[in-house]
Amino acid sequence: MSITITIDGKPCVCEPGEYVLEIARRNGIFVPALCSLKPVLTERGCCRVCIVELVEDARSKVVVSCIYPVERECEVFTQSEKIVRERGMILALLKLLAPDATLIAQLAKAYRAPDLDRLEPNPEGGTCVLCGRCVEACSLLGTSSLAAVNRGVSKEIATAYHAPSATCIGCASCAGVCPTDAIPVVEDGAKRTIWNKDFELAYCEVCGELLGTVASLEHAATAAEVEPLFLCPVHKQKVLAQHLAHPYKP
Ligand code: SF4
Ligand code: FES
Repeated sequence: MSITITIDGKPCVCEPGEYVLEIARRNGIFVPALCSLKPVLTERGCCRVCIVELVEDARSKVVVSCIYPVERECEVFTQSEKIVRERGMILALLKLLAPDATLIAQLAKAYRAPDLDRLEPNPEGGTCVLCGRCVEACSLLGTSSLAAVNRGVSKEIATAYHAPSATCIGCASCAGVCPTDAIPVVEDGAKRTIWNKDFELAYCEVCGELLGTVASLEHAATAAEVEPLFLCPVHKQKVLAQHLAHPYKP
């Protein structure tokens, strides 16, 4: 049976078990989130940027909204003084980890993140906040070319030994899901370079639209047990329509 909670004073109908972040988004209420990308990826709850204050039976607690399931009526505050302060601290720490990430700098400013002068920012600079989205996206594609390597301050996302990965197909899904644009993808018209590996680019044989890398099209075709087609969606449909217009004759 549906229940009604309030988020920043707005009544929001939801199903028991729904996550607070989903309910907020469905109701047009913005909560910053870095590692969550539902329904494409699973919830990891690692960046903590999405914290909110939840009041139940007159008791208040801070919860991680992307992994907190609502079970009964409650009040949620996404911008309370406590949340702005705690989120600001989380963003200040993320800024030390990824000092060159524009998004983190913008969020840190918006949430009045304190200056943590006494702590050293990541000496390598960089834009990765170690959210894990890229690793999961790569694993979902069955390529698993990326992993978090090392520990502590040297932790990073990389291919094995930083070498060109034998399984990487250059699809750039990792770059597509990265919230901070931390994965460089370089294209020169004929080839794409990503994770220290070069890939031949494929174009639609009819209109010349860029389709992706040859390796990624072959990978998708192998998974679907069909021959790779170097056609854009529009021309694929036209080819299919031609086939339908000329039914098979024995
Ligand atoms: S490269 Fe991007 S997606 Fe991957 S862990 Fe870092 S911030 Fe997240
Ligand atoms: S978005 Fe919720 S913990 Fe990262």
